[in-house]
Amino acid sequence: MTKKKILVTGGAGFIGGNFVQFMVEKYPHYDIYNLDLLTYAGDLTKHRDIEKKDNYHFIKADIVNSDEMTSLFEKEKFNYVIHFAAESHVDRSITDPNIFVQTNIVGTQALLNASKLIGISKFVHVSTDEVYGELDFNPSTFFTEDTPLQPNSPYSASKASSDLLVRAYYETYGLPINITRCSNNYGPYHFPEKLIPLTISRVLNDQKIPVYGDGENIRDWLHVYDHCAAIDLVLHEGVNGEIYNVGGHNERTNLEVVQTIIRALGKSNELIEFVTDRPGHDKRYAIDPSKLGELGWKPTYTFETGIIQTIQWYLDNQNWWKQIISGEYEGYFEKQYNL
Ligand code: NAD
Ligand code: DAU
Repeated sequence: MTKKKILVTGGAGFIGGNFVQFMVEKYPHYDIYNLDLLTYAGDLTKHRDIEKKDNYHFIKADIVNSDEMTSLFEKEKFNYVIHFAAESHVDRSITDPNIFVQTNIVGTQALLNASKLIGISKFVHVSTDEVYGELDFNPSTFFTEDTPLQPNSPYSASKASSDLLVRAYYETYGLPINITRCSNNYGPYHFPEKLIPLTISRVLNDQKIPVYGDGENIRDWLHVYDHCAAIDLVLHEGVNGEIYNVGGHNERTNLEVVQTIIRALGKSNELIEFVTDRPGHDKRYAIDPSKLGELGWKPTYTFETGIIQTIQWYLDNQNWWKQIISGEYEGYFEKQYNL
C-alpha cells in the first residue's frame, strides 16, 4: 500500500512542531513532510527525537515562492496539506505589518494554487479566533463559526484575509478545505515572546513581567496537545468546506495567568510591571467549541493541569528557551519593552 503524504507547513514553529511530532508518532504509515522557512520563530532542535525516523522529512522552503511551491507539489504529489506557517505575533504585526501580508496572505494563496493543481484530498487551514475581533466582558457571549469577521490587528486581518481565500477556493474550485479557528495555545516549545512562556522564563530569571494596560483582558487558553488532536480529527472527519472553532472554556485575565505562574514558581507579585497597553488590544476572546464537539473532540487538559505541566516543561528544558532568548530575541525584547 502506498503511504499517504502529509505536508505540514510551519512544522518548525510552536503548534506545527507539536503537531509534526504527534503525527510522526501516531501514524507510522503516513509520510510527514515538515516544510518551513526557519524564520526567527522556527527551530529544528525540537525534532531531535524524530528526525531519524523513516516517516519524517524536512523541506526548507518559503511558502511565498509560488513557483517553488508548484514544482514541489508536482514532484511530491502530497495527499493532505495542514497549513500552520505564518507570522503569528500580534505585537510584531503592529510594528511591521508588511511581512504579515506576504506570509499569511500571499503564502496561503501560493499553497492553495499548488494544492488545486495536483488535486489534493484535503487542505486544513489553521486559523485563529482573532479573526472574529473581540468580545465584551459578558461571560455568556462566545465566538461561534457564524460570528462576523472583524479583525482588529494587522496580524488578525491577514489571517482573516487568508481564511477568505481558502473559503473561495472551496466555493469556486471545489478544493476540499477545512478552516480551524483556535483560541490561545500554550504548552511545550511556545516561543518566549508570547505571554505564558515570556512570564515563565522571566520569573525564573527574577526579571520584571510586562503586563499590558490593567491586565484585565481575557484570553481562552488551550493546551497545544488538545489543539493537535483537534486538527487530526478535522483532517480525518471534517466535512469539506466547514469551519471548526477550537477552544476549551478556559478563560482567564492576563493578570490571573501571570499571578498563577508567579505563585507556582514561589516568587513575588512585585515582579509585575504594568506597561503601556497594546494598540487595538482585543478585550476578550472566548470560544464556543460545540460544533467540533459533535465530531467527538473534547479537551483533556484544564488550565490548572496544563499550566503546571507547562511550567515543569520549561524547568526541565531550560537549554531550549535559553538558547532562544540569548540570540536575536534579546534585541527585540529591549526595543519592545525597554525593560
Ligand atoms: P510560530 O510563529 O511559532 O511558527 C510559525 C512557523 O512558520 C515558524 O516555524 C516559521 O519559521 C514558519 N514560517 C514563517 N514564515 C514562513 C514562510 N514564508 N514559509 C515557510 N515557513 C514559514 O506560530 P504558532 O504559534 O505555532 O502558530 C501556528 C499557526 O497557528 C499560525 O497560522 C497561527 O496563526 C495559528 N494559531 C496560533 C495560535 C497560538 O496561540 N499560537 C492560536 C490559534 C491559531
Ligand atoms: O487567540 C489566538 C492567538 O493567540 C493567536 O492567533 C496568535 O498567533 C497568538 O500569538 C495569540 O495572540 P495573543 O495576542 O492573544 O497572544 P500574546 O501571548 O501575545 O498575548 C496574550 C495576552 O497577554 C494579550 O492580551 C496581550 C497580553 N500581553 C502579551 C505580552 C506578550 C501582555 O500583557 N504582556 C506581554 O508582554
